[in-house]
Amino acid sequence: MKPDSIVIKKRYDRLAPYFEGLEAVMEGLFFKNWRKRLWAKVEGHHILEVGVGTGKNFDFYPVDARMTAIDFSPEMLKQATNKKARKAVSVELNLMDVQSLDFADNSFDTIIGSFVFCSVPLPVKGLKELYRVCKPGGQVLLLEHVLSSKPVIAKTMNFINPAIVALVGANINRNTVKNIKACGFALVRIDERSGDIIKLIEARK
Ligand SMILES: C[S@@+](CC[C@H](N)C(=O)[O-])C[C@H]1O[C@@H](n2cnc3c(N)ncnc32)[C@H](O)[C@@H]1O
Repeated sequence: MKPDSIVIKKRYDRLAPYFEGLEAVMEGLFFKNWRKRLWAKVEGHHILEVGVGTGKNFDFYPVDARMTAIDFSPEMLKQATNKKARKAVSVELNLMDVQSLDFADNSFDTIIGSFVFCSVPLPVKGLKELYRVCKPGGQVLLLEHVLSSKPVIAKTMNFINPAIVALVGANINRNTVKNIKACGFALVRIDERSGDIIKLIEARK
């Protein structure tokens, strides 16, 4: 694992027990609705969730799907494992880095992630892995916060980004739409309900 990845993984390991508490207000006000919109777009039977975290998306898993989920932080995955048992969720959880997925090419109908590519150390490498393991005609669905298109806000975001990375391991200045467009998908579209910073991205292989 590259040194950067070790640092970011450790940030999430440290945050894991407090993660849901820290996000509770934003979750109730905004994220929950966005998760509903994201998961409403899932298609097919074999679904991969990347960066599963503490399992906040478990409530949205389609009941008849074969679910696989990965995260590279053992402590986040431990929270997800506990929640899986508590809620009797049917999912195979794996400790894995999205930058080097241990799955065969063309494996999944839908690959999905929420607020993950803000912290993946090499985001284009990770996004290319999603392309690789996605079936032809399958889709990648991402809910991400990105750098604002408004120059003054973008400048502020760039300025405070190092402090945010040091605190929680997430970058607030990623250009995930541009990044995914560089990965070979046949079509990339942004859900029209997306705002300047929160983007619901749909990519078709
Ligand atoms: C901000 S949290 C979001 C968790 C969850 N998706 C949610 O919506 O609450 C980001 C998650 O991505 C994971 N992550 C970051 N980089 C990763 C990588 N390279 N491989 C796998 N997981 C990664 C972190 O460990 C963390 O659990």
